[in-house]
Amino acid sequence: MKKLLTKEEIAEAVAGIGRKITADFAGESVVLIGVLKGACMFLSDLARQIELNATFDFIAVRSYGLKKETGGEVQLIKDVTSPLRDQNVILVEDILDTGLTLKFLKKHMQSHQPRAFKIATLLDKPSRRVAPVEADYVGFRIADEFVVGYGLDYAERYRNLPDICVLEEAHEE
Ligand code: IMP
Ligand code: MG
Repeated sequence: MKKLLTKEEIAEAVAGIGRKITADFAGESVVLIGVLKGACMFLSDLARQIELNATFDFIAVRSYGLKKETGGEVQLIKDVTSPLRDQNVILVEDILDTGLTLKFLKKHMQSHQPRAFKIATLLDKPSRRVAPVEADYVGFRIADEFVVGYGLDYAERYRNLPDICVLEEAHEE
């Protein structure tokens, strides 16, 4: 598989996002909410680059559609377990693609009435956007290619690759 982003490039981008969050919320605490399962690597590395009081929580969604596409419908399958009211919430996502997942999650998170709400995404594919959602912190803007590794999967595989790779055409359906 062709490497798109090496683990060194990823580490550098994650450190940069960590510095920005540390500066933006100086003197405050943050709640990092990872979107399972894809964001687990990003969240664990990002958390260690944030020099603030930080807590974690996780949320899980299911989207319907083709294997490589987000369907129009997004369903919450696991909510956060901690109260978010008046907290500085940072939603941590692996990739922002059509935006349908984050549009749904943004609305859901806002119903918890946080003090601040920000989105951190490691990857952004702006050319694929259907819903008008933008992230506050972006690691890399990438072209419209299907990528795996560093938490990102294809049919649950490849999440454990340390680099981010482009999935070969042979896997296309
Ligand atoms: P969105 O709702 O289309 O923005 O989809 C976001 C979700 O689709 C991500 O959380 C991923 O689970 C999945 N996804 C989108 N593009 C890719 C990709 O290139 N590789 C792996 N998963 C992807
Ligand atoms: Mg995901």
